[in-house]
Amino acid sequence: MKSYKILTVCLGNICRSPAAQGILEHIAAQNELFLEIDSAGTAAYHVGNPPDSRSIKTLQRAGIDISQQKARQVTSADFNKFDWILAMDRANLANLKKIQPENNRAKLVMFGEFNRQSAFGEVADPYYGGDEGFETMRLHLNEISEAFVHYLQTKTED
Ligand code: 4NP
Repeated sequence: MKSYKILTVCLGNICRSPAAQGILEHIAAQNELFLEIDSAGTAAYHVGNPPDSRSIKTLQRAGIDISQQKARQVTSADFNKFDWILAMDRANLANLKKIQPENNRAKLVMFGEFNRQSAFGEVADPYYGGDEGFETMRLHLNEISEAFVHYLQTKTED
């Protein structure tokens, strides 16, 4: 059976990437695809904290519990621990490229690349907005996660 190690990455690791982890775990399980998933932030502001309460509540309403996750900062070592590193926006991608070692294991991409409807492949940061931004984020992550799981299940090369 195919299995992959995946790291989702945003800025603070409290809004988008923990939600992406929870949603990907949920959709992978529904599709009987084995994914080992973690999340991290490019910044250290919230290290050790649980996800933002608005992300926890929004996902809880969809039956996904992310309350036990703890924020951490991404490291160069992550590039040799994971098969895929999925950036939520272009600033995250640029910051990840700065610490990416040469000849590393991971494929570093914008997560939104897997869904053609996402503008510039970005998942908008809901942190400074209202609650509705978190539901928009959830729906967007859901679409991208469905497309990514489908991609992993149907791709032939490794
Ligand atoms: P995230 O959202 O990158 O999706 O976790 C943010 C969380 C915290 C901050 C910015 C974005 N912050 O500036 O503290």
